[in-house]
Amino acid sequence: MTKEIPVITIDGPSGAGKGSVAAIIAEKLGWNLLDSGAIYRLLALSAIKKNIDFENSELLTEEAKRLNVEFIPQKGSEIRILLDGEDVTGEIRTEKCGNTASKIAAILPVRDALLQRQRDFAKEPGLVADGRDMGTVVFSSAAAKIFLTASAEERAKRRYKQLKQKEFNVNLAALVKEIEERDLRDTTRKVAPLKPAEDAIVIDSSNLDIDQVVQQIMQHIDLV
Ligand code: C5P
Repeated sequence: MTKEIPVITIDGPSGAGKGSVAAIIAEKLGWNLLDSGAIYRLLALSAIKKNIDFENSELLTEEAKRLNVEFIPQKGSEIRILLDGEDVTGEIRTEKCGNTASKIAAILPVRDALLQRQRDFAKEPGLVADGRDMGTVVFSSAAAKIFLTASAEERAKRRYKQLKQKEFNVNLAALVKEIEERDLRDTTRKVAPLKPAEDAIVIDSSNLDIDQVVQQIMQHIDLV
């Protein structure tokens, strides 16, 4: 019998702080980290570069199977991301990549094609996985499941700050609108819609800083 690898899932809408929180917890525990949104963003970037129609399910599914990506841990919790050997760590963070990712993530065969790739991240001594369907689909038997949320306004403000720091040219009102559109698409899609797993604990981070969220999650992990 293969030994069950412990998994903590952190799901939630865009900009709730999942990525930072997951990275800190993985580092604290010395566990592996899966940023599943990055995989959808990589597929989106690859489709953009190759001019693949975002509605062409067959071509996108083939591309999802073929996708040649590498996640290279750096010091601290940083990870360099390569697509076909090219460093695209910054490029996949644009709103264009996020929105395209959200469109192609609604296609079931595309999600199926990416399933095993995500499960392969579950290695000793454990995994912290962040995304939209980590607790509901990809790691449905995970020991600890978190659903991290925050108001759309607050999430747009955080994303605005992040993008500004990276010197992207952004507009707050446009970001709120994009976040609301992406939420709607992610929560209403037929396949793997964004929702808390039945056994997830829900944390609203609108009025919490990252350390407070991490503390709440660490307390919860101690109890499971
Ligand atoms: O989390 P991030 O913003 O990087 O994800 C980009 C998009 O990828 C999301 O809006 C969502 O549509 C999709 N996604 C998904 N399932 C995941 C992770 C991301 O559908 N597990």
